[in-house]
Amino acid sequence: MNSSESILFSPFRLGPVELRNRTIRAAAFEGMCPGNMPSDDLLNYHVAVAAGGIGMTTVAYAAVSQSGLSFPHQLWLRNEAVPGLRKLTDAVHREGAACSIQIGHCGNMSKRSVAGCRPVAPSSRLNFYGPTFPRAMKVNDINSVVKDFEKAVHLARESGFDAVEVHAGHGYLISQFLSPYTNRRKDSFGGSLENRARFMLMVMDVVKKAAGTSMAVLVKINMCDGFRGGLDPGEALKAAKMLENAGADALVLSGGFVSKAPMYVMRGSMPIKVFAFYIENKLLKLFVRLIGSYLVRDVPFREAYFLEEALRFREHLKLPLIYVGGLLSLSKIEQVLISGFELVAFARALIKDPDFIKKLQDKELSCSECDTSNYCIAVMYTQKAECIKNIKDPDPEIIRMLN
Ligand SMILES: Cc1cc2nc3c(=O)[nH]c(=O)nc-3n(C[C@H](O)[C@H](O)[C@H](O)COP(=O)(O)O)c2cc1C
Repeated sequence: MNSSESILFSPFRLGPVELRNRTIRAAAFEGMCPGNMPSDDLLNYHVAVAAGGIGMTTVAYAAVSQSGLSFPHQLWLRNEAVPGLRKLTDAVHREGAACSIQIGHCGNMSKRSVAGCRPVAPSSRLNFYGPTFPRAMKVNDINSVVKDFEKAVHLARESGFDAVEVHAGHGYLISQFLSPYTNRRKDSFGGSLENRARFMLMVMDVVKKAAGTSMAVLVKINMCDGFRGGLDPGEALKAAKMLENAGADALVLSGGFVSKAPMYVMRGSMPIKVFAFYIENKLLKLFVRLIGSYLVRDVPFREAYFLEEALRFREHLKLPLIYVGGLLSLSKIEQVLISGFELVAFARALIKDPDFIKKLQDKELSCSECDTSNYCIAVMYTQKAECIKNIKDPDPEIIRMLN
């Protein structure tokens, strides 16, 4: 098949938004928001992805409130961030791409110094990865986070975004409510799936209203939490159906739980030594060196690793679905699209090369040069999430650690 005639490069209407092709830059934390504000680096990266031919780029995880921040260099969607974000969306639009922003709250994955308060969660249960012992949310806390989501959508619209992506997966707050592992509540927000999904649907309700008719609403969900005792595929499919009924324009199908099964999201191994290398706090560095590889277990990588699960969701859902997870070669990307997914999303292939889509289209490449060594994941906690292969003079010590 001639790649310029490939289904990948055909336009698609996502809710109210016209995309020039079927490609989306997945929400992948850039580590480019010092002081929780958008930076020139963030703008330049997304403009490069837009100039590289993407249909829609997604500014990664933006917290809807300070208590929803998990890192000091993570975006916080508040009034002060709007001018910088407006500059970013205008520049992305000039390159012909649409622009989305992922909004969320991290719940138990924060710490007091970043959140500005004791981290909150559905239930008070130790998160070993923090390590954090969060406070169980009261109903008025829940209502206030719902309002924060609503405000965030208004700010996203003011900033010129074409779409918002609600983060309901990966063990972030909505996913913590959905998961029986983190939700031990005895009230109307815990117990049955209907109760565990209540917070998600309250968020969807305000997000849909605030988005109105001009912005698309996407939701990133888990097809499975990836460990025993978490949200299983059967319940996850029911939750996806609820989102379809609540008016989502598309779902991004993912899986995994950062505080319990992080590599289920991205697969491969986490380069723990590299991760520890960049940690300044000596005690934490030692802790990570000693037990990091026990906490963050490898999960083998293969191309399109979520395809089987995603096809099962495809069978039962009618709304547009966005496939994400391990897409590297044009042949696999086309196989995924032909098997029934409207759109495909990429994180690592575009961290390696913002021109990846253009190069596929121009037949300069038929496969990404990302080697899934996952350096970008190990460094995002402390640095910009970049690819080791893009660094001019990488520290030989780091190269040794990756091999
Ligand atoms: C460096 C990095 C940061 C990520 N940050 C986020 C994030 O902020 N929000 C999110 O939903 N997923 C995040 N992800 C997961 C990706 O969006 C995507 O689901 C996953 O990497 C699989 O896609 P890929 O195989 O194309 O990389 C991140 C992935 C990477 C590699």
